[in-house]
Amino acid sequence: MHISILKRTAGLLTWINSCTTTPDSCTETVKLNDGNEIPYVALGCWKSSPEDTYNAVLTAIKSGYKHIDTAHVYQNEESVGKAIKDSGVPREELFITTKLWCTNHRDPLTALNGSLKRLGLDYVDLFLVHWPVPLKKPTSDADEQFFVMRKDDPTKFDNDFDWDFVKTWELVQKLPISKCKSVGVSNMSVTNLKTLLNAPSTTKVPACNQVEMHPYLPQHALLEFCQENGIQVQAYSPLGSTGSPLLKDETILELSKELGISPATLVISWAVNRKVVVLPKSVTPSRIESNLSIVQLPDDVMEKISLIYKTHPQRLLCRDWGVPVFNDEIET
Ligand code: A2P
Repeated sequence: MHISILKRTAGLLTWINSCTTTPDSCTETVKLNDGNEIPYVALGCWKSSPEDTYNAVLTAIKSGYKHIDTAHVYQNEESVGKAIKDSGVPREELFITTKLWCTNHRDPLTALNGSLKRLGLDYVDLFLVHWPVPLKKPTSDADEQFFVMRKDDPTKFDNDFDWDFVKTWELVQKLPISKCKSVGVSNMSVTNLKTLLNAPSTTKVPACNQVEMHPYLPQHALLEFCQENGIQVQAYSPLGSTGSPLLKDETILELSKELGISPATLVISWAVNRKVVVLPKSVTPSRIESNLSIVQLPDDVMEKISLIYKTHPQRLLCRDWGVPVFNDEIET
């Protein structure tokens, strides 16, 4: 089986016949609707401890990654920022994403400033509304209290029902470009995206929509909708998150054996072959390095992977947010 690495030529995705992992060939970018370029593969930092994050980000940048994805709620922005500094790689060569947490929907500018301070950066490349779920702010000065629960029912989130994600976006789309080059959303279903795009206050189409996406949850309809509307999809938990269940899937194992590549390379490449930006998380240096290799997959392999969900459908991140988030029951 011939393996090649993705390269962009004259605006089209083509392939070069070399498998040397040069940073240039492994950090292919795609243009966002605002003209900014985003690298296809990022190091995901969700569930990485601060210490692991520092080491992982440093390893990633030294291996050639140009794209790091973090969030206020991951509580590792400081580590990301320190690793960026210590890497010695010029800031402008990197693409850094962070996210607005639910308790800060009413004041994204203050939240963005907080993230920039923790990251030690003047700007982020992408600022995402993490969930379309405004939550009430903690009453104490506990800024790091992310999940505010109702006093009358501590099993439920304390939703801010007097606010909504359309109002949040109205503020986010006006954030200064000097502090965030691109703005986008996360965990948005087709139903919620339609609400957002049709709102009179929406003047900017989100540059990205970051969602859970992997062969057990390919989200074909959401991907199509986003591509039709110029919204770049980003896949979190591309390997199935903790324990990476996708890498033990029968079909994935079979196909990766046939192609002579690792299951992780197969699953990550499936995402990029669909023109999806992908955020594999790892704190293991050898995995961080190998996750950057993207291969071109034959159409029949793409199709087989895209159909796995029919027998193994699975959303990994399910939570009752108190407001409709995934709308799966409406959209499937
Ligand atoms: P670790 O961080 O210990 O290296 P996802 O990207 O879907 O969130 O999956 C993350 C999980 O997959 C983590 O448990 C991570 O382990 C593991 N992982 C990441 N890359 C690889 C790889 N190339 N091979 C095997 N497991 C991997």
